[in-house]
Amino acid sequence: MVVILLGPPGVGKGTQAVRLADSVGWEHVSTGDLLRAARRDGTELGQKAQGYMDAGELVPDALILDLVRDHLKGVAPEAGIIFDGFPRTTAQAEKLDGVLQGTRRRVDRVVVFEASDDELVKRLAGRRSCPQCGAVFNVHFTPPENEGKCDRCGAALVHRDDDQPDTVLRRLVVYREQTAPLIEWYGHSDAKVVPVSAEAGVDEVQRSFRKAVGR
Ligand code: AP5
Repeated sequence: MVVILLGPPGVGKGTQAVRLADSVGWEHVSTGDLLRAARRDGTELGQKAQGYMDAGELVPDALILDLVRDHLKGVAPEAGIIFDGFPRTTAQAEKLDGVLQGTRRRVDRVVVFEASDDELVKRLAGRRSCPQCGAVFNVHFTPPENEGKCDRCGAALVHRDDDQPDTVLRRLVVYREQTAPLIEWYGHSDAKVVPVSAEAGVDEVQRSFRKAVGR
């Protein structure tokens, strides 16, 4: 099964994808996480991506596709995959179809998470991320046990640079202009497109997500 998880910044894609992937043994592929790892490692790609990410703009398609192709080389051909935050443009979606065909797979389900702008802004303002292990917390909804420290690895939590208010607003515009058109694009494909309200708490959204992918 190949699932694409679409939705605006802060809607909970990463939170839900990690939970589902852990419980059913699928591969979670987040281009945001891969880019942040490349930046942390100081790779050439990470350096090229930095300016775009900090400005809330999309990283160029060619860089993203190299990153995804490279990552998929390490994924077993029979593994289920949840793509989180990828594709984000129709050019990326077209290329993904080609890459999947090479492994005799196709996109089966496109799940679209939806929430109000007020909720997204609140979630992003309260998000705290672990720069070491990638765990995500929220000072309003899911605070860490020890303030400012990662429950999983103990590292100091950070407020992502692109979670500053101006950048959040730009990311919302970029989502609407460049990524939301993919919902219609996939509507013309063989994949089933399933909208899911992500406004409720984490457990309830997880139940709706699992239903949307038949798990
Ligand atoms: P990326 O990291 O993908 O950012 P995003 O899509 O904007 O998504 P976020 O990570 O901000 O949010 P999320 O939906 O995963 O929410 P989360 O679960 O963390 O991309 C970052 C940048 O990289 C992009 O701007 C771009 O520059 C570049 N990039 C990445 N992929 C690219 C691509 N394919 N092409 C080009 N450029 C690309 O939750 C948010 C907060 O809410 C957390 O604090 C969480 O604890 C909390 N929360 C989650 N669910 C709930 C709930 N149900 N109730 C209450 N709180 C909740």
